[in-house]
Amino acid sequence: MSRAMLETIREMTPAILPSILSGDFGDMKSEIQRLTDAGAPMFHLDVMDGHFVPNLTFGMPMVEGLNRHTELPLDVHLMISDPLRYAEPMVRAGADVLTFHVEAVEDAAHVAKAFRDLDIVVGVALDPETPIRDLEPCIDFVDMVLVMSVKAGFGGQSFDPVSLDKLKLLRENHPDLLLQIDGGINPETITQARQAGCDLFVVGSAIVCSEDYRAAYAELDQALKAVSHSTDQTRKGQEKS
Ligand code: DX5
Ligand code: ZN
Repeated sequence: MSRAMLETIREMTPAILPSILSGDFGDMKSEIQRLTDAGAPMFHLDVMDGHFVPNLTFGMPMVEGLNRHTELPLDVHLMISDPLRYAEPMVRAGADVLTFHVEAVEDAAHVAKAFRDLDIVVGVALDPETPIRDLEPCIDFVDMVLVMSVKAGFGGQSFDPVSLDKLKLLRENHPDLLLQIDGGINPETITQARQAGCDLFVVGSAIVCSEDYRAAYAELDQALKAVSHSTDQTRKGQEKS
């Protein structure tokens, strides 16, 4: 875990990050193995406290346990009311990227700076109903914005297109910021999110609820590559004219 990870992550973009939320919690070791075999470059771990969101998942022991079974970086999405309290323990457990929700805190700049002091990659997330202007106080102190395309709390919800407008605006105004999307990502919405400028795509049920993780991952990856290819073609066309 270190901010050197930021460069590693930049190099892997555009990338699909499986979320284990809809996986078999009784057999996480196999889930991690199957997702690694499918091509995952990093894992997205959804930490929920039953307070900030009406669902409970897991805490540091699970992150630490998963970390023992993979060399891949861990992207920890904190859907909790007091992210500062658990930041350092999460980093000790193995988090490489740590994302807090802007709605959960009073002073987002303070939280972002405190996360940065932990020598990790820092993300801030916002739910679909939260306006982008709420990020202004902290945006200069984060490495990544996680644009939620469903309200945080549960896997398997449908994609909210409001996220696409947010991605476009953030991409225009912050060309160097890593942009991540989470919720309702499938081969169609991953294309739209990539076209809007997104770098990192969290995918839960579209992979983990399928029979064949490798095939589901490959289909998403092809959709991503098709966008990169068409963007390259457009750029070449513009350079010629
Ligand atoms: C939802 C979580 C997501 C979830 C996504 O609050 O943050 O990471 O696992 O699941 P899908 O892809 O099924 O929407
Ligand atoms: Zn998530």
